[in-house]
Amino acid sequence: MKDIPNHVAIIMDGNGRWAKKNGLTRLEGHKAGARSAKNIVTASREKGVKYLTLYAFSYENWKRPKTEIIGLFHLLETYCKKELSEMMEKGIEFNLIGEWGKIPPKTKKILKETIRKTENNNKMRLILAINYSSRREILNTVNILIKSGVKRVTEKGFIRRLFTYDMPDPDLIIRTSGELRLSNFLLWQAAYAEFAFTETLWPDFTGDEYLEILQNFAERNRRYGGI
Ligand code: FPP
Repeated sequence: MKDIPNHVAIIMDGNGRWAKKNGLTRLEGHKAGARSAKNIVTASREKGVKYLTLYAFSYENWKRPKTEIIGLFHLLETYCKKELSEMMEKGIEFNLIGEWGKIPPKTKKILKETIRKTENNNKMRLILAINYSSRREILNTVNILIKSGVKRVTEKGFIRRLFTYDMPDPDLIIRTSGELRLSNFLLWQAAYAEFAFTETLWPDFTGDEYLEILQNFAERNRRYGGI
């Protein structure tokens, strides 16, 4: 397929509703969501997407019940451990955007190990947004710049201080489950992104639907303000 987006970012929404619909617990919904994530990582790599960012846990998600939070971090640990060999074999570099601060120590250790072990892989980068808030990211950048004593901030200088400093902006942002919002995700970076929204709940999101969205993206005419 031609015109594959270099960077796809996904808001994986609807695990809870999927669980309810299927008479399962919310945590089982997230487990099914993690299976979907794996499928989409594979499809992305096969199609030649170079950067895939998945919104796994927002800064606002701390408001959820403690059991759900613990379950989600446990799932992330399991994902890293289970998928490490495949990431090594398939050349997937693992990375994270967000704030390390509140991440439980055990999860932090596993995430850091996965980042370190995969750092030389170069076929695709899988980025999980964890404990991520775009507004906090922007404020953090502003504060770093104030501290550095610069008198004037340029776009380039600003970008260099974002969590995404070594990544291209997302070309395509997908959100599942029928919600039409960005929810504090990559606000600065989304300036020229194309958007795709689907009613499908994240655990039901298949490689085929993903390919349809990629196909549709390839047919769009991106003008970046030009004509
Ligand atoms: C949104 O659904 C989903 C999340 C807040 C968590 C996303 C996490 C995963 C898909 C699992 C872990 C991921 C990886 C990569 C291992 P929701 O709970 O807000 O759903 P609802 O709006 O229907 O309640």
